[in-house]
Amino acid sequence: MEEKLKLIWENFEKRVSDIQNVKDLNDLKSDILGKKSELNALLKAIGQASKEDRPKFGQMINEQRQKIQKKIADVQNELETRALNKKLKEETIDITLPGHKVNLGHSHVLSQTLSDVENIFISMGFQVVNGPEIETDYYNFEALNIPKDHPARDTQDTFYINDNLLLRTQTSPMQIHVMENQKPPIRIIAPGRVYRSDTVDATHSPIFHQVEGLVIDKNITMGNLKWTLQEFAKKLYGENTKIRLRPHHFQFTEPSCEIDVTCFKCQGKGCPMCKDEGFIEILGAGMVHPNVLRNCNIDPEVYSGFAFGLGLERLAMFKFNIDDMRLFYKNDTRFLSQF
Ligand code: DAH
Repeated sequence: MEEKLKLIWENFEKRVSDIQNVKDLNDLKSDILGKKSELNALLKAIGQASKEDRPKFGQMINEQRQKIQKKIADVQNELETRALNKKLKEETIDITLPGHKVNLGHSHVLSQTLSDVENIFISMGFQVVNGPEIETDYYNFEALNIPKDHPARDTQDTFYINDNLLLRTQTSPMQIHVMENQKPPIRIIAPGRVYRSDTVDATHSPIFHQVEGLVIDKNITMGNLKWTLQEFAKKLYGENTKIRLRPHHFQFTEPSCEIDVTCFKCQGKGCPMCKDEGFIEILGAGMVHPNVLRNCNIDPEVYSGFAFGLGLERLAMFKFNIDDMRLFYKNDTRFLSQF
C-alpha cells in the first residue's frame, strides 16, 4: 500500500510541476482524485485487506488525498496570482505620457464684437432686444416711411416668402416693434441677422449683422445723438477717437447723417485703409422721422428721438484690420483662433 501511494504521489508531483494553466490543473485533478483514479481504486480495494489493516489504509489514503488537494489548491492560487499580475502589468497606464490635447474653443470674433457693443450701450442705460428675421412688408418698409415703389427699396432687395413676407433687410423694423409695445422713454439696441440680395465679395454678404439703436423721449435732440455716438466710438476704438457727422438721406430719419470715426490705423493722418480721408464710416443715424412716430401712435409734437444702425461685420473688420468679410463665415480655425 505504502509503495502504491508513493508512486501515486511521485506521479502527481511530476505532473503538477509542469502545470501552466487552470485547465491542465483541472484535468490533473480529475485524473488523480476522480472516480477512475488509482487513489479511488485503492480505496475500493480496502475491503480486501485484513480487518486490522483497513483503518490504517483508509487513514493513509485519506491523508494522501488531503495532501494532494492542498497542493492543487496552492497551485491554483499561484496560477491565479500569476494571471492577475500579468493582467495588471499589461494594463498599466504610463501617467508620464502626455495626454490628448483638448482644443478649447472661444466665442467667434463677431460675437465678441457684438458683446463689446452691447456692453457699451448697456453701460449707458440701453436695453438689448431681439426680434423676428422674417418680417412683413409693413415693418421692414412701410412703417419706416418707405412706401411701395419708393426708390429707397432698390438697394434693399431680399428673399420674399410671398408678397407680404420677407427676410428683413435691416434691423430698423425693430424700431417699430419696440415703439408699438413700449411707452417712451425708450432706450434700446436691437442686434441681429439681416438679409440682402447681394453677391458675395470681400465687403458684401447676403447675410450679415446689424445693430439698431433707438432713443425716444421728450426733448431729445441731435446733440444727444452726437454725444451718445461719440461716447460709443471712444469706448470701442479708444479715448482719442473722434467722430464726424456727414449729411445723408434715410427715409425714416430727418435730418439724417452718416457717422465716421478717426481712422485708427493712421490716427487721422490719411492712409490706404481710410483712402487718405483720415476717417472711416461706421454707421447711419438721424432724428426719427415724424411719420414713423405717428405710425406708432407717438405724438411727434410731444416726443422726439434718434436712431442709428451699424453693420457689425464692418465694425469688426476695422477694429481687427480684417480685409475680407468672407473670413468671418469660413470657419477656418487658423483665422478664428487669432481673436
Ligand atoms: N437701416 C439702415 C440700413 O440698413 C441703417 C440705418 C440708418 C439705421 C439710419 C438707422 C438710421 O436707424 O437712423 O442701411
